[in-house]
Amino acid sequence: MDTPVAPRMMDLVAGTVPAIEPSLTVERVTKRFGSFVALDDVSLTVGRGEFVCFLGPSGCGKTTLLRAIAGLDPQDEGRIVQAGRDISALPPSARDFGIVFQSYALFPNMTVSANIGYGLVSLGRRREQIEARVRELLSLVGLADQAWKYPSQLSGGQQQRVALARAIAMDPGLLLLDEPLSALDALVRAHLREEIKALQRRLGITTIMVTHDQEEALSIADRVVVMNRGRIEQVGAPDTVYRHPDTLFVAGFVGRMNALPGVVVEGGAVAVGSVRFAAHAAARLAPGSPVQLCLRPEDVLPEDARHAGTRLAATVRGIEYLGSIARAALDAQGVQLTAEVQDTALRRLQLRPGARIEVVVPPDRILLFPRDP
Ligand SMILES: Nc1ncnc2c1ncn2[C@@H]1O[C@H](COP(=O)(O)OP(=O)(O)OP(=O)(O)O)[C@@H](O)[C@H]1O
Ligand SMILES: [Mg+2]
Repeated sequence: MDTPVAPRMMDLVAGTVPAIEPSLTVERVTKRFGSFVALDDVSLTVGRGEFVCFLGPSGCGKTTLLRAIAGLDPQDEGRIVQAGRDISALPPSARDFGIVFQSYALFPNMTVSANIGYGLVSLGRRREQIEARVRELLSLVGLADQAWKYPSQLSGGQQQRVALARAIAMDPGLLLLDEPLSALDALVRAHLREEIKALQRRLGITTIMVTHDQEEALSIADRVVVMNRGRIEQVGAPDTVYRHPDTLFVAGFVGRMNALPGVVVEGGAVAVGSVRFAAHAAARLAPGSPVQLCLRPEDVLPEDARHAGTRLAATVRGIEYLGSIARAALDAQGVQLTAEVQDTALRRLQLRPGARIEVVVPPDRILLFPRDP
């Protein structure tokens, strides 16, 4: 098992700051719609060849930031620098990016080939050159046999591949994707997600993808930018934002979390109702401090002698069966906890509503955030 220290140091090196040269720098960008502040002093650096996801709840400003980077909705304050060039005031046509939107936005009266080649034609490239490039792109996105179809004759996933091919046709320095997968069903979505990742790796193209799906962001991104109410809450590698959230918002938004109001007590512990949770993080706080105690469901361990920690008697109130894992709602000495257990453990322990078990909470797994009293 990891010590809690090792990943943190690794994350500091690999996660927080891109080690490679910056491809895009957003400096103190603010965007208002009337009196509403959609982006509030946002700063961010994206490294060359990096895959970054903007993750956050609906309305937090993800699309607004992407559109500012594209020049589609210019910022009111701040600067955007791409590859060393200040692009803040340039129109979209003078910037170097390809973009894919949530809705397919293909030209309905043009074939797949014509859609993909559109930008090359308008650049006035030679016909053979365009045809060769379109063929290359078609095979890159797995649509070699669909070249003469029209968008309406394609599935949603195929249409998004066309949009993707069109976006990279001119070899842009930056690929912007605004929820490109959200209109697709779960299977197609997971599949295309892997394809986008593979394609991005292969081309080495700097990519920003907007999503409000945390699983999507964690699985695809080199770094995740977690946004809330027009601000960036945290930027980090997927495992950093998951294991070491900087704020209560990130803790609750990325992954599932038990969040319990408690008070720090003597001896490196937190009292929640009648339960005292031993917590390493409590040692740094003054007794009496009100805190929000956060604990991942997978860190509530059903009776397992190998783990040291706070042991609690619990009654199973309900089980949500999810296949490889199950989520159990527990009443642990009056504290309501959600635990996630592997299917194998579920069977071994014969967990079912009404069952009485013992759970262990390791003290190094507890995160504490300040709470207003
Ligand atoms: N053209 C506009 N005029 C006025 N308000 C706008 C405009 N565009 C966006 N907003 C507001 O700015 C905020 C951020 O919008 P944005 O589209 O960036 O959110 P988002 O994070 O992309 O959300 P979603 O996940 O729903 O797409 C929202 O409150 C939205 O209503
Ligand atoms: Mg959006």
